[in-house]
Amino acid sequence: MKTKNISLGLIGAGRIGTFHAETIVYRVPNATLVSIADPAEGVAAALAARLGVEKSTSNISTLINDPDLQGVIIASPARFHTDLVIQACEAGKHVFVEKPMALTIENAKRAIDAAENAGVTLQVGFNRRWDQAFAEGRSAIAAGKIGAPQLLRSLTRDPGPFCADPAKIPQWTIFYETLIHDFDTLNWLNNGSKPVEVYATADALVAPEAKSSGYLDTAVVTIKYDNGAIAVAEANFSALYGYDIRGEVFGSEGMVTMGEMARSSMSLYSASGVAQDTLRKDTERFMWPYAAEFQGFVDAIAGERIEAPTGEDAKMALAIALAAIESVKSNAPVSIASVAQT
Ligand SMILES: NC(=O)c1ccc[n+]([C@@H]2O[C@H](COP(=O)([O-])OP(=O)(O)OC[C@H]3O[C@@H](n4cnc5c(N)ncnc54)[C@H](O)[C@@H]3O)[C@@H](O)[C@H]2O)c1
Repeated sequence: MKTKNISLGLIGAGRIGTFHAETIVYRVPNATLVSIADPAEGVAAALAARLGVEKSTSNISTLINDPDLQGVIIASPARFHTDLVIQACEAGKHVFVEKPMALTIENAKRAIDAAENAGVTLQVGFNRRWDQAFAEGRSAIAAGKIGAPQLLRSLTRDPGPFCADPAKIPQWTIFYETLIHDFDTLNWLNNGSKPVEVYATADALVAPEAKSSGYLDTAVVTIKYDNGAIAVAEANFSALYGYDIRGEVFGSEGMVTMGEMARSSMSLYSASGVAQDTLRKDTERFMWPYAAEFQGFVDAIAGERIEAPTGEDAKMALAIALAAIESVKSNAPVSIASVAQT
């Protein structure tokens, strides 16, 4: 089935949507990007012209209802994701949606139901799962090589210097959009176990002047699982040394660590010591994992059985985000059951 050509459309041609379009065009051989839609006038047309994509529109429904498309990739701002997923499912399209799939448990369930009712694939953009080191770490854990998981860690430190306008960052972004990756990674590494309780603390240490408006850029979240394991997820918006993504699972018989910052294996030895360049962007660090997640998506559309992050996985990661937000508000542990009947 690998040679089957799958036709895709992209909704949302912003920063990551543009990179996803380039990934489909240049790095996923058995897919064709047929159409791009973005409501910002001219944005889809410019990207389509640059990449040689046949169709473009500023009308999202036109793309969703295009009979030439088998699947759509949703890379709009988060608050639009659920409704776009549902519309695409109802039009019979297979759906890849960027994280977070939904901002409420009710919406997560609506998206899952829409895909089930339509009989289409629903894949979520948890790209860390497609990274070689994380995938091998998970296989080692699943094979019992570290015994019973006891302590897990996952961290996201976005590359600095921080130069965004905090006023343009929706409240709780650090949980809904940043740490949601870590929550999914931890759930996935602690395979078969469910989170039961969350405690979170957060602050604005990078841009403290914005804290009074609810902005947060630094957070630590502890998660207790029903197999007894305890996990820590942490995030910060400004790592001056690069884009820092790491994971670690410690078990009764060993440990796996995942994550590499160096741009390459080249080390520069000089009078001032040993130096390595670091990766500075998600699109560098995850260039091939992004290609792998779309390869998985098109293989699933072509009928192969692919292990990929699902709507249920997105709902479980969201439940931790919601519990973390409640925990920051109350400064107390919050049970998963109190925020979500998962
Ligand atoms: N998985 C990852 O590594 C990763 C990385 C970056 C961003 N993301 C996620 O991707 C999504 C987009 O992030 P971004 O940084 O590209 O944002 P962005 O603001 O750069 O781009 C969003 C685009 O969507 C368009 N848009 C606005 N309203 C729309 C609507 N109703 N329907 C369709 N399109 C609409 C905008 O015109 C814009 O071009 C977010 O959910 C973000 O969390 C994921």
